[in-house]
Amino acid sequence: MAKKRTVGMWMYKNGGGAEIEKKIIKKLKERDIKVINDLNLRYAVAKNKDIILNGYKLNKLDLFFSYNAGEQTQYQMYLYQALNRVIPTMNSYDAFALTEDKFQTNFLLKNHDIPTPNYKLCHRDDGHELKKIIKKWDKMVYKPTDGWGGVGLTKIENEANLDMLLPFLNQMDLRFFYVEKFIDYDKTDYRIDIVDGQFVGCYGRKAGGGDWRTNVTSGGSVFVREPNEEVVDLALRATKICGLDIAGVDLIYDREKERYVVLEVNGIPAFATPEQEKMGLNFNDRKIELIVEMIDRKTKPKEKK
Ligand SMILES: Nc1ncnc2c1ncn2[C@@H]1O[C@H](COP(=O)(O)OP(=O)(O)O)[C@@H](O)[C@H]1O
Ligand SMILES: [Mg+2]
Repeated sequence: MAKKRTVGMWMYKNGGGAEIEKKIIKKLKERDIKVINDLNLRYAVAKNKDIILNGYKLNKLDLFFSYNAGEQTQYQMYLYQALNRVIPTMNSYDAFALTEDKFQTNFLLKNHDIPTPNYKLCHRDDGHELKKIIKKWDKMVYKPTDGWGGVGLTKIENEANLDMLLPFLNQMDLRFFYVEKFIDYDKTDYRIDIVDGQFVGCYGRKAGGGDWRTNVTSGGSVFVREPNEEVVDLALRATKICGLDIAGVDLIYDREKERYVVLEVNGIPAFATPEQEKMGLNFNDRKIELIVEMIDRKTKPKEKK
């Protein structure tokens, strides 16, 4: 008899995450797949062939499912990377690490002709490059390349703004500056969820108060939003290019260029919270089903010839 398949899991618990986790575990069990959950790599130790946590050798698992955006430290990423060399991980380490970086993602998407915000990246000693570009662009956004939740984003409206900001940036221990052209949009976005190359669900976010950012952490609010073919198609393509099994793609409509642009690709898009489900965001079950199906497929024993 074949050995029972065993999958490791580390998932967020807040905002309804704990209930989602239970559902995923139950559905995998129905397919005769055992789940070891709460595998926080923070507490793992690597020794020779093994990465050991709670008495389990993680490198012997059939797959590791990592779904916790709130807590990803360098140590966890380091072990995630090593683990990914010997067992399948979801998302794959490479795809996840890519989408954690806004420049790397934007560069790759542009090279595949996906419309994204125009950007410029330069060495920290080349601040004059920013002066050149603000003259051309009129307005731009300074972004930390590894940020989330709209934190640290700074709108630069003119040269005087930039002159004020540069001394602060120079004081920080940055390697480079990354700026994007500010896109004229209606302060709403689309979030498209994709799993296993398939459309799962869509919702929108609207910036709150006077803010220009749609992030909920910046005062934005979630609303039910019907997708259109164009945003779904862009989200599917961007997900494929990034190599993500699970993705949440953020898009806005550029009023000047009259087209949609992909703003961000997230590797750990949250499930709808219980409150959002009540509002009508009803894609959780489909998302769970597709994730379970994918885990099942990726852990199927290879057929012997
Ligand atoms: N180039 C841009 N032009 C206009 N608004 C932007 C631009 N980039 C980001 N924003 C706004 O800021 C928000 C956060 O930006 P994003 O790149 O998604 O960073 P984060 O990872 O912090 O969410 C977006 O949801 C959008 O509302
Ligand atoms: Mg974002």
